[in-house]
Amino acid sequence: MTSEHIHDVLIIGSGAAGLTLALQLPAHLSVAVLSKGELTSGSTWLAQGGIAAVLDAGDTTQAHYADTMIAGADLSRQQAVEYTVTQGTRSVQWLIEQGVPFTREDSHLHLTQEGGHSHRRIIHAADATGRAVQETLIQQAQSASNITLFENCIAVDLITREKLRLASNRCVGAYVLDSMSGEVKLFRAGQVVLATGGASKAYLYTSNSDGASGDGIAMAWRSGARVANMEFNQFHPTCLYHPQAKSFLVSEAVRGEGGHLLLPDGERFMLRFDERGELAPRDIVARAIDHEMKRLGCDCLYLDISHKPADFIKGHFPTIYTKCLELGIDITRQPIPIVPAAHYTCGGIVTDIRGRSDIPGLYAIGETAFTGLHGANRLASNSLLECLVFASAVATDIAASQTISPDRSIRVPAWDASQVTDSDEDVIISHNWEELRRFMWDYVGIVRTNKRLQRAKHRVDLLQQEITEYYSNYRVTRDLLELRNLALVSDLIIRSAMQRTESRGLHYTLDYPDLAPEARDTILTPVNYEWPDQVH
Ligand code: FAD
Ligand code: SIN
Repeated sequence: MTSEHIHDVLIIGSGAAGLTLALQLPAHLSVAVLSKGELTSGSTWLAQGGIAAVLDAGDTTQAHYADTMIAGADLSRQQAVEYTVTQGTRSVQWLIEQGVPFTREDSHLHLTQEGGHSHRRIIHAADATGRAVQETLIQQAQSASNITLFENCIAVDLITREKLRLASNRCVGAYVLDSMSGEVKLFRAGQVVLATGGASKAYLYTSNSDGASGDGIAMAWRSGARVANMEFNQFHPTCLYHPQAKSFLVSEAVRGEGGHLLLPDGERFMLRFDERGELAPRDIVARAIDHEMKRLGCDCLYLDISHKPADFIKGHFPTIYTKCLELGIDITRQPIPIVPAAHYTCGGIVTDIRGRSDIPGLYAIGETAFTGLHGANRLASNSLLECLVFASAVATDIAASQTISPDRSIRVPAWDASQVTDSDEDVIISHNWEELRRFMWDYVGIVRTNKRLQRAKHRVDLLQQEITEYYSNYRVTRDLLELRNLALVSDLIIRSAMQRTESRGLHYTLDYPDLAPEARDTILTPVNYEWPDQVH
């Protein structure tokens, strides 16, 4: 018999978005929070630079608004930006009240600088902000009696009334694989929230951890929700280039505190591309690095902060200093070898200002959501801010909602594993995974063309067919589920990129190098989607 869990609210994801929501929901609600790995898996734990918010007397929400709109290249939605920047100070204040140990200097909060910001407005905990935030929130959630945390539990798919062939569609829960026991359990809830993070694992080189496979986007799409602006994948300009450094980021705050980008011969080059130099928005810096690497045929460029005093570097960037030193690079004396890597998914599940998706009873928050805040390019450190602000919005909306308890009268079938067997060829999964990430990097990366996108589309179609067949015949595992989701999300990225016949923000194509006269979102709807097979 399938185990069944029943809660008022099911939150899928234990990052900044999921935990903030869990802690801000009314304490009389029973809340389940799932993480597909340990509670610390996901991008929040890795976040370095900090959280953008108006905290300095000389700064204004108007300036934060303007900086966000400029970075978004005319695609950020005014309402979402206004709401985020005005709620930002309160959200950060809440984190301080939870006990997050933000860096202080002379008893004041220290604010750092990052690309595209006209003021110092990034609150941080040295260069390990995400870790400090998540540690604090996990501690709080562990001591809240209404919150149950489930580790190693990976949501497979959402359950909706429509899928159960019942009238008035609503999300009523999810099937969840317990990856320790191999059992697929049933989680029922009055409200379901996707807080599953981004999809940068679609790319060969990424700053993200293994779990960034776009599960929430794929699950929402399979349930009939729209997604938007999936072509806007942000590439962070500076990931450490070293054979033993897997996906290690070198924070933008290094440039914010005066770091210079250098060619192999030591020349500073960014001013040739943008008058803001190293502090131009990320799309411009990543493209400039990509351009120079291709022009010179070199494997990496360099980021140098060694002209600053050693104590300053060690004090502000202890994580980066230690990591580089472990690999034989003393950043107080030497430049850091860097390359761009996939970092952030700007598009996602379409939500309104309250975090509601198209499906009643289903919300999306954090990196998996498309709120309209980021437009064609996310401004540095606006992501954690969005997690906090929209988690609060959803907490308020759920608290005011009529439908909180799960509808126990609906009969939801147990997960059916009677027709599947254990796979005897796991190599297919790892091979397909590598192939997918390689062609996404080569054909759907920093610089795109029609031909490259067509190649990628052809390959993703074949992969989706193979994966669908595999999914129908074999028992589900975490690897298989992630591959299935990544292939679907990659298809959505490619389709969106093909629809955008201009270069804007993070989407740059040699075939259409100019801006179109009108800025438009790319909104995809599952209604006419050609599934590889009818299995979804
Ligand atoms: P995540 O923190 O990614 O958490 C996702 C959660 O969902 C995890 O718990 C995961 O286990 C769970 N999950 C996923 N799929 C499933 C499933 N199928 N079933 C169950 N659980 C699932 N942003 C900033 O604003 N400032 C920064 O300084 C900054 N630095 C960054 C540095 C790095 C190296 C990286 C990678 C990102 C950085 N970002 C930064 C971006 C930011 O960290 C993320 O966008 C943000 O943390 C996302 O939070 P989230 O809660 O949406 O998701
Ligand atoms: C960084 O520290 O460079 C990452 C900041 C971000 O992604 O917002």
